[in-house]
Amino acid sequence: MGKCNVCLHQLKTVIPFGKMPISNRFVTDPDANEYVYHLSLGWCPKCLMAQLESCVDPAMMFNDSYAYFSSTSSAMEDHFREMAKEISEFVSDRIDPFIVELGCNDGIMLKHIAALGLSHLGIEPSANVAAIARDRGVKVLGEFFGAESALEIQKIHGQADLICGANVMCHMEDINSVFEGVNVLLKPDGVFFFQDPYLLDILKKTSFDQIYDEHVYYFSGLAVSQLAGRHGFELVGMVPKEVHGGSMRYYLKKGVNHQDPEDVTFHLSQEKAFNLHDFEGYVSFRENVDRICVNLKQTLMEIKDGGNRIAAYGATSKSTTLLIYSRIGPELIDYVSDTTPTKIGKYTPGTHIPVKSHSHFLRDNPPYTLLLAWNHEREILEKERTYRKGGGKFITFFPKVAVI
Ligand code: SAH
Ligand code: TMP
Ligand code: ZN
Repeated sequence: MGKCNVCLHQLKTVIPFGKMPISNRFVTDPDANEYVYHLSLGWCPKCLMAQLESCVDPAMMFNDSYAYFSSTSSAMEDHFREMAKEISEFVSDRIDPFIVELGCNDGIMLKHIAALGLSHLGIEPSANVAAIARDRGVKVLGEFFGAESALEIQKIHGQADLICGANVMCHMEDINSVFEGVNVLLKPDGVFFFQDPYLLDILKKTSFDQIYDEHVYYFSGLAVSQLAGRHGFELVGMVPKEVHGGSMRYYLKKGVNHQDPEDVTFHLSQEKAFNLHDFEGYVSFRENVDRICVNLKQTLMEIKDGGNRIAAYGATSKSTTLLIYSRIGPELIDYVSDTTPTKIGKYTPGTHIPVKSHSHFLRDNPPYTLLLAWNHEREILEKERTYRKGGGKFITFFPKVAVI
């Protein structure tokens, strides 16, 4: 049992997943030894934060060969164009505003801010994706954000009008240091917002594959409001977003005298109704997870026993947890189709299923395909209309196993 990263209270174990490799480290030589760590979801009964019980060193995950490129889906491009629009509207009445994005990756969002000529800085420790952002005209600092780097940035650039981060706050183990950094770097009347996969969606859908090394935290409004309060911030808004299978955007401001926000009150009551403040809610989550794993493996085995081949779609980091915990490997799945050039020709971490190109998938036309990138379902089903019209079937698994 680990200790809470936020308040140091003893965590309660929700699901001990066992040994896992680094989820985004695709394997070149399947005979070489892989680094493994113990993946376990814990929950803090004191500050209500769901989190990993032990964490992987960030430098092992975020470096010059980080495999996740934000700009791989048209839906994400649309999402971040919209985010940039909202930011530019927010700062429109400010004089020479300064915008900071944590974890800007390949510049999917900040390239729009840069194109508008607004002062900005992306903080991005993974050198390969940061280089792409720079090529797109984005200013990037190649560091891990925290209290120290925030002070450094503030000394050079001054305080920011807006600080934001998408799918990055959940990566930051030392979250208290991150909040200290935001406190230093943000103007007194500035706004800090971040968005990450939403705990309530994970529990409702049983989407446990969101749980992997990079995701240290599984945020809820209940936990974020407490965390914000510890650092002199107030949670002033919560806006659900469809991306990544259900995300929540949290808006924070300095001070505690803001109006009682209706959307926050609403979402907190929804979270309580679903028992997010009570360990019982997490016990039933674990039962649901185990049921889906058994059903999925059973379905794949029946298809295979019927003499049919099965491929998979989307070599996502989250599928590492799904495949390993459900014990699904190359004996059931022939290959995973993915469009990311740096993943093609490699093998999935731990399970060593070959990753092949999308053109290979189209040529091969497998009768069944496990939809690992389920969060992009709409975009993928639209793209693969011809495959489905020709009789190809997708297998989905959240909130229950289905062949569509
Ligand atoms: N915001 C993008 C990228 C998400 S992936 C999107 O939503 O698509 C998370 C990114 O955060 C990675 O590129 C990773 O290198 C970066 N990251 C991880 N830890 C960080 C830290 N401490 N400070 C800033 N960026 C970090
Ligand atoms: P994500 O779920 O973390 O966003 O990762 C999606 C992965 O799926 C990424 O490796 C790209 C891949 N992908 C495809 O191969 N084809 C597609 O049409 C989409 C949307 C994603
Ligand atoms: Zn705690």
